[in-house]
Amino acid sequence: MTRLAIYPGTFDPVTNGHLDILRRGLVAFDRIVVALAENVRKQPLFTLEERKAMILDAMGGDARVEVDAFSGLIVEYAQQRGAKIILRGLRALADFEYEFQFSHMNRRLAPEIHTLFLMTSEESSYVSSSLIKEVAQFGGDVSAFVPELVRRKLEERLGAPRLAVAPAPRP
Ligand code: COA
Repeated sequence: MTRLAIYPGTFDPVTNGHLDILRRGLVAFDRIVVALAENVRKQPLFTLEERKAMILDAMGGDARVEVDAFSGLIVEYAQQRGAKIILRGLRALADFEYEFQFSHMNRRLAPEIHTLFLMTSEESSYVSSSLIKEVAQFGGDVSAFVPELVRRKLEERLGAPRLAVAPAPRP
């Protein structure tokens, strides 16, 4: 039996933090469907096709990863795909409140579907897609936080960086 998980999100754009969750998720699952949410309240910078291409490129054509789009409830999408697990990344404590609501509500809607959390890497614990876009928009270098194609796409869309990011501090 194939162990399948759904990893939902907006991924506008995908960051190294998302990729870390995806790669570690593949230790536990045979296949992961990255599910791009279509009808969220966000106004994405990148189209679904662009977001999909950036994820596939970063995963180097790994056949265990599929990228698809969904609209409506995530549990309904998981049911359609025959998946029992929704994979989520937990960053800071601030994520807990939302994830708590998300997983309990989803459980009420579809008790057979479970939400599984992985703790994000330390380096991405404070990163979000909006933060990346904001830093890039105002001329900061985001190359430490996103894959190369995303860096290039952000530069095309928002302009070249003027300010380099210092290496992570060492103790
Ligand atoms: N590394 C770096 N950043 C991360 C991250 C990680 N590992 N995990 C999450 N983030 C960032 C995301 O980039 C996102 O940044 P942004 O808000 O600046 O765009 C932020 O953390 C929040 O991520 P997430 O909680 O995954 O939100 P999302 O908008 O990407 O996805 C859905 C939310 C789509 C999964 C959720 O709204 C959904 O399932 N909607 C469908 C409708 C539904 O079923 N609703 C009922 C749910 S109970």
